[in-house]
Amino acid sequence: MAKVVYVLNGPNLNLLGKREPELYGFQTLDDVRQMCEAKAAEKDLQLVFRQSNAEHDLIDWIQEAREAAKAIVINPAAYSHTSIAILDALNACEFPIIEVHVSNIHKREEFRHHSYVSQRADAVIAGCGVEGYLLAIDWVAATLGKS
Ligand code: DQA
Repeated sequence: MAKVVYVLNGPNLNLLGKREPELYGFQTLDDVRQMCEAKAAEKDLQLVFRQSNAEHDLIDWIQEAREAAKAIVINPAAYSHTSIAILDALNACEFPIIEVHVSNIHKREEFRHHSYVSQRADAVIAGCGVEGYLLAIDWVAATLGKS
């Protein structure tokens, strides 16, 4: 049976392709979902792909993934920089977690340089555009393949 991987997206990522395209590109979140599903199928993984603007939804989904999944790919968006609650939820998970940022947060404003989520993430991808999601799924497949 295919291993389940959650791909979780935080606030404002529903506007991907429309907001600040010079930073985030022109591909929409639906494009990203389709790209991720194709990559997951290639790697024999089953994806659960979600986005919310609400912190509590992300926390509930991380808790759901804790039972249902073998790994999480997460772009927590602005909550990366603020949310101890999301960090705590991720700390309760015992499987591989990879954090993705479309933009290179280290090249941007200083308040984006720190991510609470990075304290738990096993790997972090930033600045590769939406391609970062595909790199993350590759990494998940390789990491789960080793276990
Ligand atoms: C982001 C970077 C965050 O700083 C920002 O708040 C986002 C998107 C990224 O994917 O580059 O909303 O996570």
